[in-house]
Amino acid sequence: MKHFFLLLAFFFAFESFSQTDFKITTGPYLQNVTENEATIVWQTSGDAMSWVELAPDDSTHFFRVERPQYFQTHIGKKVVTRNHAIRLKNLQPGTAYRYRIYSHEVLGGTGSSTQYGKIAASKIFKSTPLTFRTLDTDKQAFSFLMVNDIHENNELLTNLLKNVKTEKVDFVVYNGDMVHDMRSPEKIPTGFLNKSVELFASEVPFYMVRGNHETRGLHAIDYMHYFPSSTGQPYYTIHHGNTFMIVLDSGEDKPDSNIEYGGLAAFDEFREEQLIWLKDVVKSDAFRTAKNRIVFVHMPPMPDHWHGPWMVNQLYVPVLNEAGVDLMLCGHQHRHYYHEMNYGGCRFPVLVNANKNKVRIDADGKGLKIKVLNEQDKPEFEVKLIK
Ligand SMILES: [Fe+2]
Repeated sequence: MKHFFLLLAFFFAFESFSQTDFKITTGPYLQNVTENEATIVWQTSGDAMSWVELAPDDSTHFFRVERPQYFQTHIGKKVVTRNHAIRLKNLQPGTAYRYRIYSHEVLGGTGSSTQYGKIAASKIFKSTPLTFRTLDTDKQAFSFLMVNDIHENNELLTNLLKNVKTEKVDFVVYNGDMVHDMRSPEKIPTGFLNKSVELFASEVPFYMVRGNHETRGLHAIDYMHYFPSSTGQPYYTIHHGNTFMIVLDSGEDKPDSNIEYGGLAAFDEFREEQLIWLKDVVKSDAFRTAKNRIVFVHMPPMPDHWHGPWMVNQLYVPVLNEAGVDLMLCGHQHRHYYHEMNYGGCRFPVLVNANKNKVRIDADGKGLKIKVLNEQDKPEFEVKLIK
């Protein structure tokens, strides 16, 4: 009889904590990495309270001592959610860190008690902890890769980025239209995010430039959940080595009232707000004193074209011409174009990258080396912008 009750107790205990196959479904991946911060993002199959443990990248075993824990909090509370984004602050520039993520499933609660389920965490026992490195404005030279217009083609993404970890690049830029649309919450993970994590994104950050296709569908409003930035907006800056980079958002390609947008587009107002921000950015010391200045924007500036590219030309180009920019990197057209300085009123060169190529930029004190490579890693175009 005693055994029966023990068995019954075990059964109920097992049942209450095993009703779901609780697990990490996407990530972790690095976002908003700066000199002093990094945000670790992941998703779980159910609601959970989450944290990150952070350790220096030294020879000590990860479990030698208790590592500091960083929780996802909001207005004084630890957040219970499926979308986890934990911002690590007060980091040192150019410094490597090791990390592990944890999510404790939350099954319910009354206020004074919380019913927890399983814990899911990144693997650590049989593999080394994940690592990342913060940016460093004192770094003399660095490299990055850019791809765009992948449109959920995971095979193409793999061909272009399968060697990120061995190519000695500090980060990757996704210059928009990585998905067809955001009609469902699965689009971003299955479209390119899960593959990115498999290839590199847990340890090498990517910076997202929103394309017009990421603005489509009812889940487009959740964009910042996936790609948190220092500004809280899809436009922001990246400062690394001797190079200052501005990420702009070009919005949709047609006028807001176009029937294709279902009455939900408001990009004219958004671009005007962004213009005010951009005017402040180019006044900053960090921008003015940088050796190299790069602008990323999904839609290239085009005079007398569809509304979006035309607005990029009308609004942003005059500010950038005045401020002085070395290079603009774009996508959207699915073809390679390299416009020399002064094309279309731009007092800087514009490289439009084809959807099946990647761009490699090597930046140092002498300027920028630009190389365009195809899926077979064969160079298709090269140019040096030497100062
Ligand atoms: Fe596009």
